[in-house]
Amino acid sequence: MTDLHVSSEALRRQAYDVLTAARARTALLTDCVDDAELTAQHSPLMSPLVWDLAHIANQEELWLLRAVGGREALRPDIDPLYDAFEHPRAARPSLPLLAPREARTYAAEVRGRVLDLLDGARLEGDPLLSAAFAFGMVAQHEQQHDETMLITHQLRRGAAALTAPAPPPAPEDAARLPAEVLVPGGPFTMGVSHDDEPWALDNERPAHVRLVPDFFIDTVPVTCGAYRRFIEDGGYGDPRWWDPAGWAHVREHGLHAPLFWRREGGQWLRRRFGVVEPVPDDEPVLHVSWYEADAYARWAGRRLPTEAEWEKAARHDPATGRSRRHPWGDAPPGPEHANLGQRHLRPAPAGAYPAGASPLGVRQLIGDVWEWTSSDFLPYPGFVAFPYREYSEVFFGPEYKVLRGGAFAVDPVACRGTFRNWDYPVRRQIFAGFRTARDAEVTV
Ligand code: AVJ
Ligand code: FE
Repeated sequence: MTDLHVSSEALRRQAYDVLTAARARTALLTDCVDDAELTAQHSPLMSPLVWDLAHIANQEELWLLRAVGGREALRPDIDPLYDAFEHPRAARPSLPLLAPREARTYAAEVRGRVLDLLDGARLEGDPLLSAAFAFGMVAQHEQQHDETMLITHQLRRGAAALTAPAPPPAPEDAARLPAEVLVPGGPFTMGVSHDDEPWALDNERPAHVRLVPDFFIDTVPVTCGAYRRFIEDGGYGDPRWWDPAGWAHVREHGLHAPLFWRREGGQWLRRRFGVVEPVPDDEPVLHVSWYEADAYARWAGRRLPTEAEWEKAARHDPATGRSRRHPWGDAPPGPEHANLGQRHLRPAPAGAYPAGASPLGVRQLIGDVWEWTSSDFLPYPGFVAFPYREYSEVFFGPEYKVLRGGAFAVDPVACRGTFRNWDYPVRRQIFAGFRTARDAEVTV
């Protein structure tokens, strides 16, 4: 949402545009492989791509055609197959799923009816319809699954299917950037209200004041080169750096580097969308778990930022005391601000996107890599589940850690300074990296 008081026609147009963009991306991710690849399970961690495709359509049908439109189910028999809570990912390939052709037809049928519904919908009153919320939610949901499908493509063993887009912009002044930035202590507004950000999801609300003491935060995400020094210093073999559960995990699984990295002939290589290439030292590190990020930070004499610190660094404008939508201001993300939307199939080198910097000069908070924070995924004070408990509420608790900022695989519609992602601390296939922080020393 760009304008807070947009006309009904502008909202309708915006809903149409984000739904259409999401579907184009879904088509790109599912048309680039054959039916065998669509129905295969490439990793027990992921669904077959054809499951994501029909699940996207099923959720769209549930929320837009049935909940908003009051229509009868198109295919009541298939709901349980595409309910993410009924079947774990590893079990999905053995379900009687719609075949690729059926799934595409179902998705197209739902979409056709949804666009008819959007044409005549009154976008106010009902909380699902107000500001076209349900349409925005469904577009964000499709984009989230597009990111999930991109993760599946990264896990695929086969040859590259996604065409390599242009490389992201190189930084110009990275060598002159300070290593860290001081964020002055004091209150700031965390989270957002429905009025200020109508398409924010339930866990981003409500806006509330947090007192965050002085802290330093890295100007840029931790790079592959910096992470390599941790490896080469024996970081994976030294229990001093690790959370006990993380130490047990790396021992049990024999982990010694980020996922997709391997050492060959004295050189670090990584596999990226089917292509093996040297690990680029200047790029933010990707495919590390929370445990690895936490261990690196301790080795470096630092720590992960809390979620509140991350959001303050990303949104707080010290000149006005206001919290911005994005680090650079309230304007929607453009290609000059952040590496989003699968425009590039990799993070940009550390220090890129000067136009996307926060008021204090912190860079690449939005886009490039999801950033692990030290915080558990918990509700904000006054949280109300909307429109369903299974989006956020059932995940609140200490098992999940919060990630912020969004990766190169995240679409702008599903990304903002308040957006919260979460995952298990062992997860590595997601597009996650991190930056570090430290308490500001108390000077007497
Ligand atoms: C917010 C990324 C954790 O993929 O599990 C998709 C998003 N919720 N369908 C996930 C989501 C329901 C969710 N994450
Ligand atoms: Fe889903």
